[in-house]
Amino acid sequence: MSQGPVESLHPNRRHRPGVLRLGVNIDHVATIRNARGGRHPDPVRAAILAAGAGADGITAHLREDRRHISDEDILRLTAEVQLPLNLEMAPTDEMVKIALRHRPHAACLVPEKREELTTEGGLDVAVHHNVVAPIVRELSEAGIRVSLFIDPDHVQLAVARELGALVVELHAGAYCEAEGEDRKRELVRLEDAARQAAELGLECHAGHGLSFDTVGAVAAIPQLAELNIGHFLVGEAIFGGFDSSIRRMRAIMDNMRGAVGLTA
Ligand code: PXP
Repeated sequence: MSQGPVESLHPNRRHRPGVLRLGVNIDHVATIRNARGGRHPDPVRAAILAAGAGADGITAHLREDRRHISDEDILRLTAEVQLPLNLEMAPTDEMVKIALRHRPHAACLVPEKREELTTEGGLDVAVHHNVVAPIVRELSEAGIRVSLFIDPDHVQLAVARELGALVVELHAGAYCEAEGEDRKRELVRLEDAARQAAELGLECHAGHGLSFDTVGAVAAIPQLAELNIGHFLVGEAIFGGFDSSIRRMRAIMDNMRGAVGLTA
């Protein structure tokens, strides 16, 4: 039986029933900063601006090679930003220690390969079950809301449920990259997976590769509670500003929810 998505609780989480939350990923503000090795542009300043533009949360990926977000950024994001932080992290001992030190609102377990340009696919929680299981337990016991970034696949969802995670984030990259009939097929995969997640009692998020063009159909999936979006928003900021790109993304998401009268 469908239990629907479970709301994420956080003292600074604006409770807006029916509203699809927007988590703004600020990794690539740090990418630009690191290109020159200085302090500008500051991802913490971007996070504070995102809060004012309608973001419901901040997402940051602390990679093993620290190519964008740094340890100091995580410290400052938890200390200086009011919005809940979703820390994306590989399931490694190093990252677990860091998460336990900073206690973000949420931790999203993602696969990581040193040579990849970005997170290429979901974490295979069936293959890595024995590594992921104790990490889900340890982070959850510390009060961190654990999310598993997985492909929209029924086996992955079933294992995520069995692992005891409260949240899954569906990898939307294949949908965003596909065209024509392939894109329609990928959308159906996301829709089916979101439905299954709700039936399993999992809060369901989606992210990766979303843009003004691709976000609408994903926002219309009623079981989704949150979208995490970064690269496009930071890129679009070059043309119209970060505030404007976030507000426009927020408006597309809200319009899509309002237009079809959804109640997730
Ligand atoms: N969600 C997860 C789990 C991710 O790994 C990423 C990329 O870091 C995103 C969302 C955001 O993807 P994008 O930057 O393509 O919007």
